[in-house]
Amino acid sequence: MPARGGWSRGSPRPLRGDASSRRFKDPSVRRSLALFRAFLHEQDDPEACYSLLARDAVDQVEAYDGSVAGRIVLDVGGGNGYFTEEFRRRGAHAYLFEPDVTELGGKPPDSTVIADGYLLPLSDGVADVTFSSNVLEHVADPQTFLSELARVTRPGGLIYVSFTNWLSPWGGHEWAPWHYFGAERARARYRRRTGKPAKHTLGENLFAVHIGATLRQVRARDDVMVVSARSRYWPFLAETVVKAPGIRELATWNLLLILRRCPP
Ligand SMILES: C[S@@+](CC[C@H](N)C(=O)[O-])C[C@H]1O[C@@H](n2cnc3c(N)ncnc32)[C@H](O)[C@@H]1O
Repeated sequence: MPARGGWSRGSPRPLRGDASSRRFKDPSVRRSLALFRAFLHEQDDPEACYSLLARDAVDQVEAYDGSVAGRIVLDVGGGNGYFTEEFRRRGAHAYLFEPDVTELGGKPPDSTVIADGYLLPLSDGVADVTFSSNVLEHVADPQTFLSELARVTRPGGLIYVSFTNWLSPWGGHEWAPWHYFGAERARARYRRRTGKPAKHTLGENLFAVHIGATLRQVRARDDVMVVSARSRYWPFLAETVVKAPGIRELATWNLLLILRRCPP
């Protein structure tokens, strides 16, 4: 196995530990159903929902990169810190970077940093793993955001980025699936139905990100290599669905990009 930092573009980096037994397998129907059930109870039982999601996401990271124990992990736009806490439970040195204090909840992880993902207060290449779950669709300039994730990741390090694309059935977030009929109409409907204003406004804190365009932009970059582009939650055909132009915008639900930082 190459020394840390000895990985180069084009050579897949072997996994740590028992590599042969840790290859990524398509997840099961049972796992997808459990996640779906948890999403349905996101509002009334956020603890159960986000703990499960965090365990699942860290499993995905470990499937590509081996154990996170002892690794430096950055959770960028990590909200209330469930993912950071799960990385720490598994022995990682994990840090939460979150720009919005209202997203942190009552008990953010120790050493949380209030920081914008566009401009992280970190030197180049400090992280073994840079993790960003469901943030890309909330930034106006996803490519600049990705540049910053790549900058703080060491060469050969792993970058986990997932986002809900606009044409996903969940693309409109709390006003989905009515976003298919227009964002403003969907927001207005949400307000009428719930009596409260929607959290998200298109063009302010939610942006229409598409899978095809994002893949083309990420593949054209020279600071990262795409290891995998797959549906984050699908139990089968998770990579295949992402290869079908048009269909992928509707069927992927949430795109997971596993990237490797290329040497500068
Ligand atoms: C839908 S939440 C996702 C939270 C958590 N990562 C998760 O998967 O549950 C989106 C998060 O992105 C954060 N965010 C928005 N703009 C950001 C930026 N420029 N840099 C870093 N985080 C940002 C928000 O504050 C919010 O916590």
